[in-house]
Amino acid sequence: MSGRLHTTAPASITSLPALVGGIGMATAAGAASVLAYGHFIELNRFQVREERLAVLPPGSPDIVILHISDMHMIPGQRRKTAFMHGLAELQPDLVINTGDNLSHIDGLDPLLTALDPLMDFPGVFVPGSNCYFAPRLKNPARYLWRHTGNEARDPDHQRLPFEKMHAAFEKRGWKGLINRTDALTIRGVRLDFSGVDDPHLGYDRHPGFNPESNDPQDSSVRIGVMHAPYLRTIRQFAEDGAEVMFAGHTHGGQICLPGGRAVVSNCDLAPSRAKGVSYEGSAPLQVSAGLGTSRFAPVRLFCPPEAVVVRLTARSGS
Ligand SMILES: [Fe+2]
Repeated sequence: MSGRLHTTAPASITSLPALVGGIGMATAAGAASVLAYGHFIELNRFQVREERLAVLPPGSPDIVILHISDMHMIPGQRRKTAFMHGLAELQPDLVINTGDNLSHIDGLDPLLTALDPLMDFPGVFVPGSNCYFAPRLKNPARYLWRHTGNEARDPDHQRLPFEKMHAAFEKRGWKGLINRTDALTIRGVRLDFSGVDDPHLGYDRHPGFNPESNDPQDSSVRIGVMHAPYLRTIRQFAEDGAEVMFAGHTHGGQICLPGGRAVVSNCDLAPSRAKGVSYEGSAPLQVSAGLGTSRFAPVRLFCPPEAVVVRLTARSGS
């Protein structure tokens, strides 16, 4: 009997490393499976989210906006390109592009190919840091927590062809809102835009809104457009009188908890506001989870890439 006990105990002890090793291997295998899912499946699970915002003057017809952001285009992204081409079938009245268009020095031609059908529609755009500066391989996860872009202070940081990109957008009629205002009349409603250069880089200089937009006799709506929705930025837009705001940058948290709950926003906006519509005072802020990721962090979890169809409708009342 004792002999059996004696022989059993050492066998259990010697199996502990094997057991720990087994758990470690299983954990590593599990983590690898999750990362593989996040890279091969979730990254290409493109969605169209729909929102309705009652911000137009009473009696106005609906205006359909397609909000796209954070394409982070690199050569060879066929599925993203096909999805973006399909968005033209939605026949939006307006396209709002909130930046981070590129993730590779050779990304411009693929980007313009992907955007080609959408540039047949009226559009406005603002740049993000990934329109100016190419991403670099450091710690891929730093994108998720770093709140301040320092690329502009690094003379060795590879520049992206943003002037050429903006010229191509403008050639097709899209209006750059880079620290400036502009306006478009669609379906009899004047859309008064105020846009800023990327707050993540500290390039933002608020131009306010065109004083004409305060005329109560006008059928108009004031729209604030930015890449990164820092609190100072959305608060300034709200103070300037924005009636609706559009932003990208957050990637919706990119690597989220089950249920899509974001843990980070990559700026000082609360993670709970990293995707979807939230309110700053009475003004809705629509934040896109974006269509891409940095090419050095190509994983999404519980946060699929998206384009957003925002239907602006009339407010009730006189
Ligand atoms: Fe981005």
